[in-house]
Amino acid sequence: MGQSVLTTGFARVGGVLQCEGVSLERIAREVGTPVYVYSAATIRDRYELLDRMLSPVPHRVHYTLKASSNAAVLKLLRDLGAGVDVVSGGELHRALRAGFAPDDIIFGGVGKTERELAEALDAGVLLINAESEAEVLIIDRLARHRGITARVSLRVNPEVTLDSPHEYIKTGGKGHKFGIPYDEVIHVAEVTAGLANVDLVGLDMHLGSQLSRIDPYREGTERLASIFAELQKRGIDTLEYLDIGGGLGVRYDTEEPPDLRRFAELVLPTVADTGLQLIMEPGRFIIGNAAALVTQVLYRKRSGGKDYVVADAGMTELLRPSHYGAYHKIVAMHEGAETKTVDVVGPVCESGDFLALDRELDDIQPGEYLVVCDVGAYGYVMASNYNSRQRPAEVLVDGDRYAVVTARETYDDLLRLEIAQPEWREGN
Ligand code: LLP
Repeated sequence: MGQSVLTTGFARVGGVLQCEGVSLERIAREVGTPVYVYSAATIRDRYELLDRMLSPVPHRVHYTLKASSNAAVLKLLRDLGAGVDVVSGGELHRALRAGFAPDDIIFGGVGKTERELAEALDAGVLLINAESEAEVLIIDRLARHRGITARVSLRVNPEVTLDSPHEYIKTGGKGHKFGIPYDEVIHVAEVTAGLANVDLVGLDMHLGSQLSRIDPYREGTERLASIFAELQKRGIDTLEYLDIGGGLGVRYDTEEPPDLRRFAELVLPTVADTGLQLIMEPGRFIIGNAAALVTQVLYRKRSGGKDYVVADAGMTELLRPSHYGAYHKIVAMHEGAETKTVDVVGPVCESGDFLALDRELDDIQPGEYLVVCDVGAYGYVMASNYNSRQRPAEVLVDGDRYAVVTARETYDDLLRLEIAQPEWREGN
């Protein structure tokens, strides 16, 4: 019998859907559904692919935790030599718990609280990506109180034109909330360089997510390089890093993924000319194709001439289809003889709760499993408890073995933070 590849790490082998060497049906039966299943080999391959692509220049790959932050995934990446990019105190906590050394951590984000900045300084992170003059001034004050010098990189809004598939995931265009407006960067850099308790160690940008064209990277990198040259002219010579963010796209459907060879040709020479160390913050590129969500069909129904498949996963487990109109390939665990055009919907009480609309799918019956592909990035991490639903389990497959790496939430977990007998306080 043949083998047909669904996506990296997932294939139908002799009629059985597998992640690496493990049957997805077995995982569904033993762990229950909905369940996220990750392929360790895919994560390793993708990391190594990117690391190789960047090898002509001194570089660091800082995996972006927000894409998927399970401890087992983080340990796997740590063992490969990755650093991480975190954007909250919670992510910093996760990274440290997963064993990342402080100087393998960079801390970013548009709205860091003083508490989070203090935590980053106390941990001794490699650098903080600051997004405004006001933030740099707070960092300087916090560092002074601690008697230390903070390492700060400035996040520049490169103001380039982008091709990302959804407005919500564009960040590096003029007028976005992220970064320092391009024409203010020199001023903020001079202020930063003049502070006693801050070292200006880098320039940073992040263009957006699910990008396939290389030109915006070339343009953005050239813009950072020209700021670097201008700063040198003005006697600011403390910079060590050029961080060009994340954003490299993956294939969900028929998209052309970014051409890495072209990336190396168009972007790396500009970086090499600066003599700075390159940082990238990939999320989706590393983990996007590395997981599938297995869900069970609960009901079939027809309404208003439409065929519905009601599954036990929906927007609470995978928000991307309803939030961004994102496409995720869906296949039945067992191939059927006939297909039908259906809406695959979840159990949540919202008409916007769907995994796919007007999708041609095997004509499956209740009890059958569906496999939703390429959900590794921004999948589990965006799950919610709406409708008091329990967040699903996560499983990591490595070769012929698998392990549950996040338990399914329990009903008690849902009530854990609730105070059944509140203590009333005077309000005036
Ligand atoms: N660096 C920064 C500063 C970021 O804001 C992001 C993602 C990344 C790196 C990683 O980007 P990536 O390599 O994964 O494209 N929830 C959306 C995506 C939001 C991306 C947010 N920032 C989605 O499901 O498509």
